[in-house]
Amino acid sequence: MYLTGIARVAAIMMMGLLFSSYSFAAEEASFDAAAAYQNSCFACHGTGAAHAPEVGDVIEWEIRAEKGLDALVQNTINGLNGVMPTRGLCRDCSDEQLKAIVEFMLESSQ
Ligand code: HEC
Repeated sequence: MYLTGIARVAAIMMMGLLFSSYSFAAEEASFDAAAAYQNSCFACHGTGAAHAPEVGDVIEWEIRAEKGLDALVQNTINGLNGVMPTRGLCRDCSDEQLKAIVEFMLESSQ
């Protein structure tokens, strides 16, 4: 009886794990990096406002990409030099989502 109790708890935990990784995947799939970029980042990165590096400027992003994706994402999360705002003003974006937006910006600037 004791063992079946443990097995049952283990089974429930497994289901919980499966479910949480499933919902995480669903959240990733439904996140639209291009739309989030338009909403939060385009005002600066689409226009060069505040001297932001413009998306589509190959040289500018080639130089920044040399820092590595992780450094760029960290600077997005923390802000940079007082001109790049914390989280790019997207307060609802998770770290993973900000990373997806940075990847989108890099891909759009090759
Ligand atoms: C208010 C204007 C503004 C907004 C909004 C903004 N940025 Fe920026 N961003 C900047 C400026 C200015 C820089 C250049 C900072 C520097 O190099 O001193 C920058 C730099 C960056 C960099 C390069 C960082 C590095 O290490 O070189 C990334 C990546 C970036 N922004 C991502 C984003 C993302 C993603 C968003 C939207 C979620 C966003 N930014 C929204 C102004 C903005």
